[in-house]
Amino acid sequence: MASREVRARLRGLRWRPIGRATPALDDLDLTIGAGERIGLVGPSGAGKSTVLHALAGVLGEALPGELSGTVHVDGAVGLVLQDPGAAVVAGRIGRDVAFGPENAGLPRDEIWRRTRHALDRVGLRYPLERPTSALSGGELHRLALAGALARAPGLLLLDEPTAMLDPEAAAEVRAAVVGAIDGTDTALVVVDHHVGPWLEHLDRVVVLGPGGRIMHEVSPGALHDGAAAGPRDELTRAGVWLPGVPPPAPLDVPASLVVPDAAGPEVAVDGLVVDLTTRGLRGRTSTRALAGVDARLPAGRLTAVTGPSGAGKSALVAALAGHLRPAAGGVRGAPSRDARSRELARACGWVPQHPEHGLLALRVRDEVELTGRRLGVPVDVEAVLGLLRLDHLVDAHPFRLSGGEQRRLALAAALAHRPGLVLLDEPTVGQDRRTWAAVAGWATAAARHGATVAASTHDADLVALADHRVRLGRDPLGSDRATSPGGVVTA
Ligand SMILES: Nc1ncnc2c1ncn2[C@@H]1O[C@H](COP(=O)(O)OP(=O)(O)OP(=O)(O)O)[C@@H](O)[C@H]1O
Ligand SMILES: [Mg+2]
Repeated sequence: MASREVRARLRGLRWRPIGRATPALDDLDLTIGAGERIGLVGPSGAGKSTVLHALAGVLGEALPGELSGTVHVDGAVGLVLQDPGAAVVAGRIGRDVAFGPENAGLPRDEIWRRTRHALDRVGLRYPLERPTSALSGGELHRLALAGALARAPGLLLLDEPTAMLDPEAAAEVRAAVVGAIDGTDTALVVVDHHVGPWLEHLDRVVVLGPGGRIMHEVSPGALHDGAAAGPRDELTRAGVWLPGVPPPAPLDVPASLVVPDAAGPEVAVDGLVVDLTTRGLRGRTSTRALAGVDARLPAGRLTAVTGPSGAGKSALVAALAGHLRPAAGGVRGAPSRDARSRELARACGWVPQHPEHGLLALRVRDEVELTGRRLGVPVDVEAVLGLLRLDHLVDAHPFRLSGGEQRRLALAAALAHRPGLVLLDEPTVGQDRRTWAAVAGWATAAARHGATVAASTHDADLVALADHRVRLGRDPLGSDRATSPGGVVTA
């Protein structure tokens, strides 16, 4: 490290966001050498994303608050946000990735060379014309990574780049990241609650504690399965997931918070076909997300909906929530899309893959109370927020939360009125060990007390808690997909 040229340096950094009594980062010193690879870990809400924002130079500007200390970065920065969907700037994947090099004023040939190369490196082998709106959550992560790589950054900042991917796709993204910076002096800071698969590629692991202070700096070798207990125990206590450490027991959520008003329905889908339609400048584009799915969700069970990225898990969950109209086939037991919104809300709680899209209120407390108040169902806001470790954020703005906090809030908002049908899209993404135990506890307790619970997930620890499974295949379009990449059908 001493011999390395410095790529970035944070000194005495402190940031207190507007509207918060305490700083999100405090007295933070971090020096990153050229070519150095750092894993940044710590509990949900500790300030990991905020450190990346500081390094990207957007603290204090895009994110207002009281800022002191210094930030120095040498060269271009590529930042892949925790919610890559929010970073999409164009309607077609080619143009989206080309945006960075275009802004850098590169020659046209070079822009498209870099764009194709970056898409290839992240394994997005679709035509450049593929609509960005037709990508799955996992594919959006890879698109955002391609966008960052196309900028040829000296410092690459990745915020949970594989959190929503299936293990195979996650390994591909990791390989893409490592391959892209291997042999270069591009420095890497990667945030991931599950640091295990990164360890062999890292030089250092930095642990942020609550309150945005650095708690430990550890050598990756000390964290492997089989290494001495000391550092592994400390990180586990801090909520970090390490290889070989079993998951915590799900929290025992009291019946009063989850027992449904009316018992959960028996849900069945037969030959379900769902097309996702998007409107753009060039007309309507329709992508087949589910092509004839049969599935059953038994009442009083937790059903895990599994399958690789892009298999249509979110589409199935959204269709069950009455949010997508089937093109063919039927759904029994779940409320239909034509139900009145009040009936829909009463019957079913849905946490979508991008939970921030469903948030409506100006304060965390109001968000949790909203549905219950409309339906005349009392909600114990303090108990709900306490369980989900959001009690210190009761007056915060729902959009000014960390990624993990926002997902837990969406869960609280969707489920506080105790619906009989609980539909969760990747509910454990972005959770540390403690907040995972709360989310997993909520899902299992709701099922145990009679709700019909379905969770689409790549999380093997959550799947292990399920007592029923629905697995979607890789290829919802059968052989069509091979001949017409991505299965894009233009109407
Ligand atoms: N735009 C914002 N305005 C105000 N406070 C914010 C904002 N973004 C985050 N915070 C707060 O700052 C703290 C750190 O948030 P940050 O997003 O950095 O956490 P994190 O470690 O990335 O968590 P997670 O693992 O859940 O993504 C949290 O208390 C969060 O609520
Ligand atoms: Mg974060």
